[in-house]
Amino acid sequence: MTVRILVFAGSARHESLNKRLARAGAAALQAAGAEVSLIDLADFEMPLYHGDLEASQGAPEAALGLSALLAGQDGLLLASPENNASVSALMKNTLDWLSRIEGGKAFAGKVAALSAASPGALGGLRGLNHLRDILHTLGVMTLPQSLALGSAHTAFGEDGQLLDARQQSRLDSLAANLVRQARLQQAA
Ligand SMILES: Cc1cc2nc3c(=O)[nH]c(=O)nc-3n(C[C@H](O)[C@H](O)[C@H](O)COP(=O)(O)O)c2cc1C
Repeated sequence: MTVRILVFAGSARHESLNKRLARAGAAALQAAGAEVSLIDLADFEMPLYHGDLEASQGAPEAALGLSALLAGQDGLLLASPENNASVSALMKNTLDWLSRIEGGKAFAGKVAALSAASPGALGGLRGLNHLRDILHTLGVMTLPQSLALGSAHTAFGEDGQLLDARQQSRLDSLAANLVRQARLQQAA
């Protein structure tokens, strides 16, 4: 059975390191047999969540579109920047809007793998703890393993793969485990 995985980074920045990691993760997922939807949140622009805005206009088109896309997936691979030891405002805002559409139904039964990229030494590890909590609140199961890529500004080769073979192997293993777990969820 086909396993469908949605992949995105919590940064819209053109030169985003997390977008690079998301691309490398998407390639690893494809190699592991998944059908991948790699999206850029720059194409899903949403206003900052505001209850009055929601009451007067409902969820923005971009959130409705992303929610519909997510509903058709078996899992998620997220590449999440770390801002002040937590998730980026863009990641949080996106998840908040999605959680408001039909009670966040699109998250139900999904499994997620978490990754982060940062120029710093810890690679965004602390933000991943917060992201994990948020996803659990939304009913998403997360893989216990994750990848926090430190010194990410020097980590990628021209082919988009990770220069350090051990890091690339960690990413490949994360992707393979996500596909395996999504298959188990499908069968359950
Ligand atoms: C407001 C702000 C807070 C940040 N806080 C952290 C942090 O806590 N830990 C960290 O490793 N990097 C931190 N950074 C650096 C980001 O990890 C870095 O800018 C990264 O490249 C952003 O992700 P992107 O390249 O995908 O856009 C911070 C950057 C900004 C703008």
